[in-house]
Order: sequence, then structure tokens, then C-alpha cells
Amino acid sequence: MANPEQLPAWQSLAQLAASAASRSANWIAGTEDRFAQFAIAFPGLLADFSKQQIDAEILSGLIQLATEAQLPLQRDRLFRGDSLNVTENRPALHTALRAAPDARPPIVGNEVETTFKRLADFAGAVRNGTYRGFSGKALTDVVHIGIGGSHLGPELAVEALGGHAAEGLPCHFVANVDGNALASALATLNPETTLFIVVSKSFSTLETQVNASSARSWFVERVGRMDAMARHFVAITTDVQQAQAFGIRPENVYPMWDWVGGRFSLWSAVGLPIQLAAGPEAFSGFLQGARAMDEHFRTAPPTRNIPMLMALIGIWNYNFLGATSQAVLPYDQRLRLLPSYLQQLEMESNGKRVQLTGEPVSVDTMPIVWGGEGTNGQHAFHQLLHQGTRAFAADFVLTANPAHALETHHRWLLANGLAQSQAMLLGHEDTDPHRQVTGNKPTTTILLDELSPWALGALLALYEHKVFCQGVIWNINSFDQWGVELGKRLAIPIFEQLGGQSASRQDSSTRGLVTYIRTHRHSRSAD
Ligand code: F6P
Repeated sequence: MANPEQLPAWQSLAQLAASAASRSANWIAGTEDRFAQFAIAFPGLLADFSKQQIDAEILSGLIQLATEAQLPLQRDRLFRGDSLNVTENRPALHTALRAAPDARPPIVGNEVETTFKRLADFAGAVRNGTYRGFSGKALTDVVHIGIGGSHLGPELAVEALGGHAAEGLPCHFVANVDGNALASALATLNPETTLFIVVSKSFSTLETQVNASSARSWFVERVGRMDAMARHFVAITTDVQQAQAFGIRPENVYPMWDWVGGRFSLWSAVGLPIQLAAGPEAFSGFLQGARAMDEHFRTAPPTRNIPMLMALIGIWNYNFLGATSQAVLPYDQRLRLLPSYLQQLEMESNGKRVQLTGEPVSVDTMPIVWGGEGTNGQHAFHQLLHQGTRAFAADFVLTANPAHALETHHRWLLANGLAQSQAMLLGHEDTDPHRQVTGNKPTTTILLDELSPWALGALLALYEHKVFCQGVIWNINSFDQWGVELGKRLAIPIFEQLGGQSASRQDSSTRGLVTYIRTHRHSRSAD
């Protein structure tokens, strides 16, 4: 593991980038049969890198960079359960959750299997109505309380897969501490037929604690008895004691483990909403798709290794071609939450400025990840992508087969997705500079055969491995997130000062804002 800039391959790539800068505007489009060379098939999906600004020489240089960064060795360490999360001295074993039981490292034990069995039994009973609330009624709604990795994955997966089974329960996601989130979720619900899932790896995250406490109050005030929680509240956490102290019985707690990071935890009990919305079989298909991508990542040669290539080409775009952001453009309404999910996965993992050693990183690490579903983005931000001044990279995600019968709609959706990436590649020559579109914008197209549980599992595992590979090359820790602690600490005194305590020791701006809010808030009943 070394400072990437000191690797010989990094220096060679810098020279290649310098010479690539002088290439003709449409050098990519002019080269032959790139699709055959740079599009890679995987069961259920295709990754087309042929619109990226790469050629055989650049790709060879990138693969050499992976070799010099010891990526194959670090990949083996990841799957073996070495403590790659050096600041918390933990492994990152999200891959073990979807591995075959006999292929899991010893640290995993058999609690994963017993937990999955409990989850499937519980979800099945809730879905078929044999699991009843305290008053004997079948459950009709789920309120899911969690934030970050305890929210983004579940909501994305439920929206992507929710249509896969008729008897799925509607799931109302509450993440933000903003009271609007909880109030709107509860507005039409019947406490006798509602299941609350409190998801928090630490069981201490402020937003989740505040939301869960208010949900508990809402429930107990309406049913008139605390013991009824036993049929209506479950928790997914590493801290059973804290969950029990909150009022959730141990038998209603599904464990998480320290060897799985929150943003990598959808494969654990955190995936319960998938089982409730789409069925236990959908969840096992989801795991199997990820397992297949794991096997591909472990065994495919670098030139045909989709996660490795996605990572390396990303580094080429970010560190050598000056891309200051990575757009994620899903051309499937069911994947509209994918950009938000990837924001946490990529930016919370690789938004780092020091190497594993604690020394500053001398190169840029992960840029901003953003995006939005197509075709809507074409009428919002694509203008900047086509005629703006800033370099960017973009991933298009398309689905060949829809889950609806509106064939014309889907054909237009696909045509627009392909046309946008083509426009970014070819550009448009025009005598009028206002109509000129420069090309050679680097894009990858990921084409799913269909948005199945398998394909979603493979897709999310693909991005997990992309993040891991880039972290290895940047020589950073992709599995901690110390940067988010400061804001949490600063919020505590400000909360008290908004409630009346003196803000005199705050910085001028914060003091002024607290004072303004206090003088402009209408009086409310005490929180
Ligand atoms: O954003 C910080 C963070 O710790 C994330 O890494 C995590 O997914 C989220 O907060 C929620 O944490 P918990 O699951 O412990 O409530």
C-alpha cells in the first residue's frame, strides 16, 4: 500500500493523459469496434465502457496501476476478513452475508444463517397474515425508521423490487428528524395494523432515536398499553441491550454485526423490508446476484473484470482527465433513488483526505456523486452536461425489459438513454457557437436485462467493489466515516441554545442565526 502518486504506473498514466489531451475532438468515435473491445457481459447485465476515453494503451496502464497498488492481494484480504478498516480495527465482511454458508470466514459464525431463517419466517408470516397485531388483526403497513445506511438501501430496494410480489406490505420510510417525515408517515395509519422497524446499527443515531421515541409515543397513546409494542416493534441493531431498554423485546431484535459497515449492510437483516415488500424469495435472489458479482470480481481477469474496470476508468476520469463529479443517470423510474444510495456508498467511503498511514493523500480522492432519473434529467440538468465548462463522468443505467406493458413508453425511454450518451460522445459541430456541443464526454452504460432481485444485487455489489478498488488505489480507508462525527457533536449545544440557553460562546454567525430563530419562532407547546 503506497501513496498512489509515487507508483510508476501513476507517472506513466500522467504522461498518457498529457498526450491524450492533444488528440482530435472525436478520437473515440473514430476508432473501430470499441463495443467488442470494451463492453463486458455478465449474467443479467452488460457493462459498456466503449464511450469512455480509453484505448488499449491507457487500459493497460490502468491495470498496471492496480497491480502496483496490490489490488489482487487487498481483494483477497477483503474476502478473507482481514481488518482493512484500520481506524476501527474491523473487517469489512459484507461479502460474507451473501456468500454460501460454507464459504464464510470463521468470524461470521452461524448467526447469519439463523438470522436469515428468522427473518424469512417473520416476513412470511407478516405477508400471509398469520402474524397478528396485539388486537388480533393482520398487519397492513410498515413504518421503517432509520437513516443513512439504515435507510437508503432499504428504500432503494423496496422501490426497485416492490412490484415483484402482490402481497407486499406498503413501507413508509422515515429517516429525517424533520417532524414532517414522521407526521406524514403516521397520518393515515392504524396502530393496530402497523409494524414499526427501528434500524440502527449503533442504536444511538439521534434522528432514529427521536423518530423511534415519537413513534412509540404515537403508538402507546393510541392503543393505551405499552405491552402491545411486543407485537408491533422490531429492531435491527448490534446493540440488543439498547433496543431492550427502548422497549423492544430481545426476541424482536434481529442482529447486525460490527464486521459489516452501515452503508454495506443491505445484505443483512437491514434487508427485511425487501422480504416484507417483495417476499423472502426476492431477498435470496438479491443475495445470489451479489454473490455472482463477488465471484466475478474475485476471478475475472482485469481486462474483463467489471468492478475493477469501473474503478480504474473512474480514477482515469477523476485523477487524469479532471472530472470533478460523477453523475449517476438511471433510465428506470424504479431506480430513481440509486444516486442517493451511491452518494453514501461512494462519498462516505472515499471522501477522505488521509492515507491509511495518516499521511495526507497527495492526489484527489472521490469527487461529488450526484444524478437523477432519465428522462427527467434531460429537462433539468443535461444542458450543463452537453454545453457546460466542467469535466464530468456519467454512468447510465438502463433496463432492457420493463415490468409494465407500455412498450412504446419503454422504447422511448431506452432511445433517449442511448441518445444522451451518444450525444455526449459525438457532440455536434455547428457554425453557430451557441449550438455547438463538444463530445468525448466519458460515460459508461450499464444495461440490465430486467430489474430483477438478482440484477439489483449484482448492480449494488458491482458498485461496492468499485468503491473498494478505488480506495485501495488511493490508499485510503473506505470503511470508516469520522468526518460525520463533528457535526453531530456541534448540534447538541445548538439544540440547547435554540431552546433558550445562552449562545454567547458561539461563533458570530451561529450566535446571530440562533438569536434570529429564537426571536422569529412562533411560540409552540414544549417539544
Ligand atoms: O452517516 C453516519 C452514519 O454512521 C452512517 O455511516 C450510518 O449508515 C448512519 O449514520 C446510521 O447509523 P446507525 O445505523 O448506527 O443508526
